[in-house]
Amino acid sequence: MTDDTSSKPWGGRFTESTDAFVEDFTASIGFDHRLYRHDIAGSIAHARMLAHVNIITDAEAGEIVEGLERILAEIEQGNFSWSVGLEDIHMNIEARLIERIGDTGKKLHTGRSRNDQVATDLRLYLRDEIDALAAAICRLRLALIDLAEREADSIMPGFTHLQVAMPVSFGHHMLAWEAMLERDHQRLLDCRKRVNSMPLGAAALAGTSFPIDRAFTARLLGFDAPATNSLDAVSDRDFVIEFCAAAALIMMHLSRFSEELILWSSAQFSFIELPDRFCTGSSIMPQKKNPDVPELVRGKSGRVTGHLVSLLMLMKGQPLAYNKDNQEDKEPLFDTVDTLAGSLRVFADMMPAIQLRHDNMRTAARQGFSTATDLADYLVRKGIAFRDAHEIVGRAVRYGVDNDKDLADMTLAELQAFSDVIGDDVFAVLTLDGSIAARNHAGGTAPDQVRAAAIHARERL
Ligand code: ARG
Repeated sequence: MTDDTSSKPWGGRFTESTDAFVEDFTASIGFDHRLYRHDIAGSIAHARMLAHVNIITDAEAGEIVEGLERILAEIEQGNFSWSVGLEDIHMNIEARLIERIGDTGKKLHTGRSRNDQVATDLRLYLRDEIDALAAAICRLRLALIDLAEREADSIMPGFTHLQVAMPVSFGHHMLAWEAMLERDHQRLLDCRKRVNSMPLGAAALAGTSFPIDRAFTARLLGFDAPATNSLDAVSDRDFVIEFCAAAALIMMHLSRFSEELILWSSAQFSFIELPDRFCTGSSIMPQKKNPDVPELVRGKSGRVTGHLVSLLMLMKGQPLAYNKDNQEDKEPLFDTVDTLAGSLRVFADMMPAIQLRHDNMRTAARQGFSTATDLADYLVRKGIAFRDAHEIVGRAVRYGVDNDKDLADMTLAELQAFSDVIGDDVFAVLTLDGSIAARNHAGGTAPDQVRAAAIHARERL
């Protein structure tokens, strides 16, 4: 970056040049150069609109568009030198346009302000990022659906309070994660509707005295419509907050998945093996294989929530309309996009490669009397009221704890001591496979239901 303070586009009313530190302190080019493509797209549409309503000539618009396209190429080839003196992406590009094409370039900013320009750029940028993130969520959802189908018959313990509760299908567990991501996906698409509204034409805050055609510009840029109120259009950052709220929810979900993967890959659970390429070792303990990827994703979820809170705090004290405070919206937004994109990507890469330790999961599912509810349901089917059945099974479990015996390991005579309605058909309900197969309704964990749910989930994608 150069430090060219010679001529500011707004220099006319000033008698001294900007303090060198203030120039650095107020500049945003260090991070908003990321908006260059969208800034150029917005300017090209604006120039075409100006010609369409005869504010500039077609020839002038042609020169401006060509100049901007050349600047785009310069930036993409790494040949553009950003100037801190020119403060932000908007003035850097405009100054370069004037340098390249001369006086015609000075007409581009007619009927426009950096205030409606930056709001437009940010919306165009976020719209693209939402589309990319939605595709990334789809990729992860697909990986989970594939895994659910493959592992519909694999049994693991289901937990409540992190205590073994009932056996469940591993595939069913994967589809629980997928259900969270389906909502996340919908939230992003819903947020996109409110992102896709065009601030251009609001100019600084009150609109412009030129006979602009906002609907024309909105069509060129693919916006649903121009924003309805100029003061709101330049000052509103709800769409950034809304996106970051949706992102914080997604990261919270990924953090919960991470926590489970970390637990499951520990020696104490040993349900899964994460692929080596997603883990690291310890510099002192040669035996270690650490689940760094899920740990980092869990950690990064905190910072995305932090960005959401920063943005809410950024906005809450601002009077209408644009205030320089708004420049602080970009770094939290950009970091949220990057963090979310990276986390979704690494999860989608990792999930298909995890190895299941089926035997350990089954052994764990057998512990903790996980089929006790099945025995109670069995007693109900034999005519006992559920509360009485609950009491009977409770006594059987206490006997099992005292004698270190699971329900399925007791003899018929031992079980009949608790209730004489128990027959030898009881053992079918006490097995893990019998237990999960019995939960055979939509939304239940029976493997056939899991396979059907996977098909439906795939259809909804
Ligand atoms: N760099 C500024 C931002 O990010 C652009 C808008 C500046 N507008 C102004 N009136 N200073 O918000």
